[in-house]
Amino acid sequence: MIKNKKVIVGVSGSIAAYKSALLIRLLIKAGASVKVVMTEAATGFITPLTLSTLSKNPVLIGFTKNKEGEWNNHVELGLWADAFVIAPASANTLAKMANGICDNLLLATYLSARCKVYVAPAMDLDMYKHKATLDNLKRLQSFGNGIIHPGNGELASGLYGEGRMAEPEEIVAFLEKEFSKGLPLAGKKALVTAGPTYEAIDPVRFIGNHSSGKMGFAIAEELAAKGAEVTLVCGPNSLSLSNTSISRIDITSAEELYTASTKAFKNSDIAVLSAAVADYRPAVVAKQKIKKTEGSKSIELMPTRDTLAELGKMKKAKQLLVGFALETNNETEHAKAKIKKKNLDLIVLNSLNDKGAGFKNETNKITIIDSNNKSIKFELKSKAEVAKDIVEVIIKRLKK
Ligand code: CTP
Repeated sequence: MIKNKKVIVGVSGSIAAYKSALLIRLLIKAGASVKVVMTEAATGFITPLTLSTLSKNPVLIGFTKNKEGEWNNHVELGLWADAFVIAPASANTLAKMANGICDNLLLATYLSARCKVYVAPAMDLDMYKHKATLDNLKRLQSFGNGIIHPGNGELASGLYGEGRMAEPEEIVAFLEKEFSKGLPLAGKKALVTAGPTYEAIDPVRFIGNHSSGKMGFAIAEELAAKGAEVTLVCGPNSLSLSNTSISRIDITSAEELYTASTKAFKNSDIAVLSAAVADYRPAVVAKQKIKKTEGSKSIELMPTRDTLAELGKMKKAKQLLVGFALETNNETEHAKAKIKKKNLDLIVLNSLNDKGAGFKNETNKITIIDSNNKSIKFELKSKAEVAKDIVEVIIKRLKK
């Protein structure tokens, strides 16, 4: 959601200014372009050098850049941004904003900004509870500014109570939500499973498969990009997410996948199960490493719990359940049978007979079949593009 967004971070004079560094770091990590405007008072709490290094842009403080009088164009800056977040917003800055006072660059930028402005107040308990501050916040809200409310806890003064600036992670999550407003899946919760599962044989060995998790990760990213609040339950993999709003639950075994997914499914509107889950696990997991002996060895296997089938049983009328099928023969027939057997709305079929499809590859070639047996065939595409196709079908289906 934050990827490619242009964000101004305003930093005013409060001890919480040290948290701005992490906020900027998180925004950059999420793919935003960040410009920082500080008040003079803020420079006493954190150095502009720290914030310019993290934001990869010069920090703007005064109305002019240098002795020659080259000015910092606050009007241009205000027009550049998609969002302006003032964190920390001190009692003094809030009061000036509420009254249109414009005696520093941060405030001039505020008055010039056409984008949505958010304030994350930070101050001591009594200052925050003072009627003047509360009235100022109300006034700012009436101007259409967003308030990222402070948390409760120990304050720098040693007092306990409200006034502690929201944590940088909370501010980023708040912005993610704001940017998702108006998107087709805003307000929807989605569960995605991805990657392989490892079924332990002994403390050092397992039964696994070659799934990379790439397809599921791409689906999770695409659902989040369309505004959904995504929980990703994933088996062992080496991937990272670019969307920081996705909640990632790392699991190892089919049983752990079952527990995490059945829990998350209860609150989900959409579930896409792309994980390559082991169908069997060793009946007994040896406590010690199994030693080499003469002759052959066999391992007794027992079935794992089928998460997709269980979600099919749990499914309520408004929930949309999407399964995956990886087949080698009679592909369509087998996929259609799985829709019925597991009570699915859609199934994404990949055939191992198609070059470039399935595990390990950067690409995939899919057919999506719905519960009315209608199917759509797609060309061989990158997994990110395949994810877009799948999510587009999901969005259309939800509109029906
Ligand atoms: N799946 C699951 N839990 C399992 C096994 C599979 O959630 N224990 C899900 C997969 O994530 C996928 C779908 O079920 O979405 C299809 O899995 P697949 O192994 O192809 O189907 P099976 O029902 O196991 O049938 P078969 O192995 O006979 O093809």
